[in-house]
Amino acid sequence: MPTQITTLSENTASRGTGVLAEWGLSILVETDSHKIIFDTGASFSTASNVVEMGIDLSRVDKIIFSHGHLDHTGGLLPLLKLIRKPVEIIAHPDIWDNKYVKSPGEKERYIGVPFRREAAEGLGAHFKLTAEPLWLSESIVTSGEIPMLTDYESIDSVLYIKENDDFKPDPLRDDLALFIKSQEGLIVILGCAHRGIINTLKHAQNITGVEPIYAVIGGTHLMSASPQRMDSTIAALRNMGIQRLGVSHCTGLAASAILAQAFGDKFFFNNAGTSLSL
Ligand SMILES: [Fe+2]
Ligand SMILES: [Fe+2]
Repeated sequence: MPTQITTLSENTASRGTGVLAEWGLSILVETDSHKIIFDTGASFSTASNVVEMGIDLSRVDKIIFSHGHLDHTGGLLPLLKLIRKPVEIIAHPDIWDNKYVKSPGEKERYIGVPFRREAAEGLGAHFKLTAEPLWLSESIVTSGEIPMLTDYESIDSVLYIKENDDFKPDPLRDDLALFIKSQEGLIVILGCAHRGIINTLKHAQNITGVEPIYAVIGGTHLMSASPQRMDSTIAALRNMGIQRLGVSHCTGLAASAILAQAFGDKFFFNNAGTSLSL
């Protein structure tokens, strides 16, 4: 069976009426062996869109959090109420850090997980927290911690962890991606790619031993990238032979336009309601 990828929630919506858009991301991944929800969006839009699109979640047994920001985790409780059975939640232990955004001239804002762990566990969640890659089958693996390898990618400087009354830069060690081996090469699902899209793809090649990157789907966090970072990112993506580039969410409109120009037919905007068979 080809890998089916359906975007359940995103900043914008692609089809018909009734599909809701909300800042955040949630992607359903179906393979022969698994039905996995990668991120849960920010709030009720994901569960609402599941109902609107007529998607059956009865086979879902795993949910992965790409990191501990609320726009990727906040939809969990409404989803668990729909699924109504035990679900394993795979994530990095640092998702529970006290995460904030603090932009120059603005008051800090809490952007961490917006529910208590016990509330999710009461609805059937079992947290499996690890910093290591986790193989879900012979062909599907989570990234674990992503090493910072390139010299042009860095963590967004407005992201912090609050400890007591101190703010320290958030290293986003919890940033995870999902890698799927396919006949054409790797399919990579991104949440926000806070540790860098190219760092993530290099890590995908390293831990799977597969060189060609066939498809990249999800948030790329290029919304505040410098022109130099955009150029280096595009050159690296070309080098990796990427065939499908479906960006979402924190890619931002300006960076999306630049990528659309650079990649032509290979580029698409991946928003709520987009369904792909790869
Ligand atoms: Fe994020
Ligand atoms: Fe995000």
